[in-house]
Amino acid sequence: MEKVMPSFDKNRQKLGEILPLSTPFTVIIDASERCNFQCSYCYRSNTKNKENWGYAKRNDLITWEIFEKAVAQIKEFPEEVRQISLSNHGEPLCNRKIPQMVRYIKENGIKSRISIHTNASLLDEDYITELAEADIDRIVVSLQGLSTEKYAKICRAAVDFEQLYANLSKLYKRKKHTQVYVKIMNCALDDGEEEKFYNLFTPICDRAFVEQEVPIWKGEEKDTNSISNKYGDTFAMQQCCPLIFHTIVIATNGDVYPCTQLLREEILGNINEKSLREIWNGSQRMELLKRQCELNNPQICDDCYIKQNSIYSDEDMIDDYRREIFLRLKTEEGGKIHNAR
Ligand SMILES: C[S@@+](CC[C@H](N)C(=O)[O-])C[C@H]1O[C@@H](n2cnc3c(N)ncnc32)[C@H](O)[C@@H]1O
Repeated sequence: MEKVMPSFDKNRQKLGEILPLSTPFTVIIDASERCNFQCSYCYRSNTKNKENWGYAKRNDLITWEIFEKAVAQIKEFPEEVRQISLSNHGEPLCNRKIPQMVRYIKENGIKSRISIHTNASLLDEDYITELAEADIDRIVVSLQGLSTEKYAKICRAAVDFEQLYANLSKLYKRKKHTQVYVKIMNCALDDGEEEKFYNLFTPICDRAFVEQEVPIWKGEEKDTNSISNKYGDTFAMQQCCPLIFHTIVIATNGDVYPCTQLLREEILGNINEKSLREIWNGSQRMELLKRQCELNNPQICDDCYIKQNSIYSDEDMIDDYRREIFLRLKTEEGGKIHNAR
């Protein structure tokens, strides 16, 4: 089946040869720290210790003012950001303004791919039409089961699976250029259900894939030399995190984080006080990048699994380039390097 494909793009550049970047590949503008699910494998299942929720414990939606500012500042980079993701760890559709945000970004002349990861459970007739008409570039739907009962068990939420399926069919029918990708966690499938998943969903999406559960939120499996990512591919354990070099995160209150690690306490700044470009090129971020190259990471990076899970192909691994990148960081500091395309 030609639609059975993971949701990442395969035409990748060798990161080690082009870092550091003057323009991020991905800016995450977190539309919603809120989520309507409590998936068993997610930090949200631990409701007793909300400290583990990091900055998501605020449970906020982004304000329109912060969102507008983020968009204006994205335009200040010397090149086009490749992707603007409107979702982080929460459920973006908790924010009804996603279609309005997509339109606003496009009206501002930004050509970046606009994407969300969503559980799709909050789609209704109006939301389907609005999203389809806004022509968002990519929607990655995370399924958590193939029945209402499975949803109750895995995400402790009342989801009518037949209705969810009907809504996704409508979205696929009404969309214009949007790429709809559907994925499911292996732990959400019963024995023999993989084929059922592909049979049900390949007719109503552009790509479908079964992903593996990985220890994102815990520092397990440290004593192995290799590790499987969520796409089932095995790579050597990484020491340098590629994500921190190509992605930046704007939280709902305008705070800027260097990566998607929720428990990272120090922020790089706030877009109300400094522009995103200044923060991207600023000494605090540069110091973090250099420390990655020197393998002198802050504790939070050492314990973090994101660096393993950000490896989708050999091109993403930067350990062998860390000395070169370090030298380029020292000599080119200030964002003088232009992204190679
Ligand atoms: C945390 S959700 C947030 C975005 C949105 N609410 C959604 O459902 O897609 C992001 C994605 O990460 C996946 N995910 C969360 N924890 C995971 C883990 N331990 N292993 C693999 N994937 C995980 C989820 O299944 C989902 O596809």
